[in-house]
Amino acid sequence: MKVIVVESYEELSKKAAELLAEVVENNSRATLGLATGTTPIGCYELLADFCAQKRVSFKNVKAVNLDEYVGLCKSDSQSYAYFMRDKLFDHIDIDLNNTYIPDGMAGDLEGECARYSEILDEEERDVQILGLGSNGHIGFNEPRTSFQSVTHIVDLQESTIKDNARLFDSIEQVPRKAITMGISEIMKAKQIIMLASGANKAQAVHDMVQGVINDGCPASILQTHPNCIVVVDKEAARLLDK
Ligand code: GLP
Repeated sequence: MKVIVVESYEELSKKAAELLAEVVENNSRATLGLATGTTPIGCYELLADFCAQKRVSFKNVKAVNLDEYVGLCKSDSQSYAYFMRDKLFDHIDIDLNNTYIPDGMAGDLEGECARYSEILDEEERDVQILGLGSNGHIGFNEPRTSFQSVTHIVDLQESTIKDNARLFDSIEQVPRKAITMGISEIMKAKQIIMLASGANKAQAVHDMVQGVINDGCPASILQTHPNCIVVVDKEAARLLDK
């Protein structure tokens, strides 16, 4: 695990965008594992700039997302499908047919999980972007999720519902369930870029990077990934031993 501590959120976004752009520059048909949450937004804005400047093209790129809320349709502005279009896909030249995200409205949710796992088996990801829950979750894999897990339905923990309530009008509107890529599937990406910003991530960053690997902090498993880069700003890094 390589840890890069940067001064600010702007620097974090720049570093992440450069790393992703490099993957696409080296392989115009790359498959990118993408994440939602507020942390990658700055990186996505820069990727849109790179695309406008013709530095990178996403024309032949595939994108596979980590997770989706159960019960929100694609056109709901709180859905992750909407987020990805709004923050990235509508601003780059990617073919939407090459973008994958679990369907949180599927009638058969277990079937949807199996379908998504098959997609993940077929689409080898060159890189996976991750954000970090303040409780150490990755995707929506909450503490105590098995490291062997594949795509599954999650009951969101109270702390996650509270964290994400800031993005909704009220906490009641936050969905209680989600579909998430499993931890074993996240770990299959060739490279992982984990992004964390802000003081409320400091404990989780410490446990992820310097804690004992255990399912109480799902992100701690990243210590065993052969090519994982952690980019954190000073605030998020403040509990790391030097
Ligand atoms: C959400 C998402 C995660 C995201 C995390 C952090 O619950 N499921 O994929 O990484 O929380 O979000 P943020 O970047 O807004 O802090």
